[in-house]
Amino acid sequence: MSNTERTFIAVKPDGVQRSLFPEVLRRFSQKGFKLVGIKLTFAKEELLREHYSDLQSKPFFPSLLSYMMSGPVLATVWEGKDVVKQGRALLGATNPLQSAPGTIRGDFALDMGRNIIHGSDSVESAEKEIALWFKKDELVSYKSEMYGWIY
Ligand code: TYD
Repeated sequence: MSNTERTFIAVKPDGVQRSLFPEVLRRFSQKGFKLVGIKLTFAKEELLREHYSDLQSKPFFPSLLSYMMSGPVLATVWEGKDVVKQGRALLGATNPLQSAPGTIRGDFALDMGRNIIHGSDSVESAEKEIALWFKKDELVSYKSEMYGWIY
């Protein structure tokens, strides 16, 4: 895995409304990841249908869409070693009942339908999601470390 692996992390409307987004930024930054894209945005239905295309037939799909459109989403892109897998670990399980304390969902969420945060589940979906949510020129490339060995 290269250190330039990227993932898409979105603080969902409940996470923004509950002021949990600084906590999310802190946890990802302090873990050692580099923020390369960030914007507060209202997700359009068309975008969400594409983003959650694998869930279209699920019974919870309509409520998932209205939840995701109920307020602004903080869309972010992070870069670093194994960031996709590490990001999923920082999030915790989809169902807050199964997400361990110490994870973001484990610490702050109670309901699956209000689970605060999204994170790409594979390198392939990360690429798809980043392209869906961000234009190329909205992502920055920079060196964050002063020395080669420090994060
Ligand atoms: P999914 O992609 O399976 O999980 P994750 O967000 O962890 O990648 O599902 C997308 C979102 O759909 C999930 O975060 C919460 C919602 N959801 C429900 O509301 N009910 C459900 O039974 C499932 C599986 C998901």
